[in-house]
Amino acid sequence: MDKVRVCIVGMGIGRANGRAFMKNPRSEIVALCDVLEDRMQDFAKEIPNEVKFYTDYKEMCKDPDIDAVFVGTPNQLHVPVALEVLRNDKHVMVTKPLASSLTQAAEVVEVAEKSGLVNMMSLGMRFSNQVQYLGKLRQQGYFGDLYYARAQAIRRSRIPDWSLGFVREGGGAFRDMGVHVLDAVWWLLGMPKPISVSGVAGAKFGPRGKGYWDFRQPDESYWSQFKADDYGGGFIRFENGIGLQVESFWASHQQLDGETQIDLLGTDAGARLRPLTLYQTVNNAPQNVAIDLPDGPDGFDNVAADFVNAILDGTECHAPLRHGMMVQQMMEALLESGKQGREIRFDD
Ligand SMILES: NC(=O)c1ccc[n+]([C@@H]2O[C@H](COP(=O)([O-])OP(=O)(O)OC[C@H]3O[C@@H](n4cnc5c(N)ncnc54)[C@H](O)[C@@H]3O)[C@@H](O)[C@H]2O)c1
Repeated sequence: MDKVRVCIVGMGIGRANGRAFMKNPRSEIVALCDVLEDRMQDFAKEIPNEVKFYTDYKEMCKDPDIDAVFVGTPNQLHVPVALEVLRNDKHVMVTKPLASSLTQAAEVVEVAEKSGLVNMMSLGMRFSNQVQYLGKLRQQGYFGDLYYARAQAIRRSRIPDWSLGFVREGGGAFRDMGVHVLDAVWWLLGMPKPISVSGVAGAKFGPRGKGYWDFRQPDESYWSQFKADDYGGGFIRFENGIGLQVESFWASHQQLDGETQIDLLGTDAGARLRPLTLYQTVNNAPQNVAIDLPDGPDGFDNVAADFVNAILDGTECHAPLRHGMMVQQMMEALLESGKQGREIRFDD
């Protein structure tokens, strides 16, 4: 095989991931799958070659001319689609979050790991050049021991108003945006083992019909089905005494410059993600260094390359579904901690 033949499922975030596969010289999109045919037709205009259309993912999975599938459906369908892909002996990439519950996440990881197929999370933020740059510094020991971090995903009024998948059970702000910063910061910290989490979470805007995308007002038939979280925050304690404060708000009365932020604190140096800045003390004086990264491939290009290389060359896949499951475990524990009003320990 010299080119991976990919099918994209879900014409939302599937487009951004699909473009990355189109840019990669060692992959091509050969099929699209969505329940909405007009969305497939629209995206197909960007694809230089002929593609097949499928409205039923089970039918698509039987197609012998597809080697790998990107799953970009609403959260609640990630695992059912990914399981079907794996059972039909195809490599799979799943958008974040891995699943809409921890039980589902564990099930797909077990099947994926037994299959021997390449299984990967699409994590545009972890694979972004800025996060990768900080990751290289950590590997080189630049920060000394990282002992504390903050991660925020904050919006003023941006609850998605176009798909019930976001607002029904299994959706929510944490699984939608908190997951990005949680994954990226956990990876930057060296993927330490979590010990406990204490959090609060709930919904203050969505169930009142407020806080929706850019202050738009959806119909009551949409917002009355809100069964998810629109805010959550908490503290995760890791092995070796590392602490992480993490927050996720779909709607809130506050303003962040941009939507996400990560701060890392180490014994020798610290860092802030946006704008990318390093903090050190040199000759008893603070030194703050602004990093101006040259333009390069974006996060989804890096994700696609990692996946394609793993399939064609057998190289390591750097974000297996197992990582998605571990992040899901922390996320679900934070939400559960909010529900129960107590700390959750991972050895419970
Ligand atoms: N940066 C990122 O990595 C990123 C950004 C946005 C969304 N996402 C993730 O992508 C997923 C979808 O979000 P979105 O914003 O693209 O939503 P979306 O509603 O724009 O797209 C989802 C698509 O899935 C299709 N779909 C629904 N049921 C299907 C089925 N049974 N078979 C095939 N297709 C089906 C819908 O018709 C729709 O076109 C979510 O899990 C979200 O968390 C990731």
